Amino acid sequence: MIIAIDGPSGAGKSTLGKMLAKRLGLLYLDTGAMYRAVALAVTRAGIGLDDTERIAEIARTARIDLVGEPDSMQVLLDGRDVTAEIRTLEAAQAASMVSTISDVRRTMVEHQRAIGSAAQRGCVLEGRDIGTVVFPDADVKFFLTATAEARARRRFEEDRAKGRDSTYEQTLAEINERDIRDATRVDSPLVEAPGAVRIDTSGIGLDEVFGLMLSAIDERMNTDERKS
Ligand code: DC
Repeated sequence: MIIAIDGPSGAGKSTLGKMLAKRLGLLYLDTGAMYRAVALAVTRAGIGLDDTERIAEIARTARIDLVGEPDSMQVLLDGRDVTAEIRTLEAAQAASMVSTISDVRRTMVEHQRAIGSAAQRGCVLEGRDIGTVVFPDADVKFFLTATAEARARRRFEEDRAKGRDSTYEQTLAEINERDIRDATRVDSPLVEAPGAVRIDTSGIGLDEVFGLMLSAIDERMNTDERKS
């Protein structure tokens, strides 16, 4: 079973993706973490974010592994734990930039398809192009969204809880900037996949969204069973 979750940053994809993977016993793949790891490798190598050829080469040669259970997943870059380092604002912006490069996307998509297809029971993948490019035939596709203000408020609260020093205005500006780049890039921009279940999470709690997602999965799987 392949479940695709796409949507803008801060819509709840990671939290809900992990909850679904745990409930259904599926592998969880955070594809944004892979773009963030590439961005970190690029920055560490001192390569400019406009040097597309060398960035594509880094994406091809860097070893990126996601290991462990959904709640304690570690991201390894060439065998070293970079889980915390890829979560900075700078890494997010750099990831959004390297993800506009087609060669980088090609390499990541291949990697993501291989991981998803090899998962024994199936996989929950979350990102921006899962239902449109990585697994267009996913069993169930979700498009999670929320207003930029609601997403910024959530991100800001999370950052504050982690002791990060930022303001709500900075967080909102960062979200708006990333939204524009992710939605207007030429290759695989963030768009709602045909047939996706769209959920606006702005005014509703996590448990309610989770319930809606479980019902949608049930409904799709039952419809498929009836068809076969
Ligand atoms: O989901 P995230 O915030 O960790 O993603 C970081 C960046 O990576 C995001 O700004 C866009 C990019 N990304 C992408 O282009 N395609 C994906 N499938 C996942 C993330």
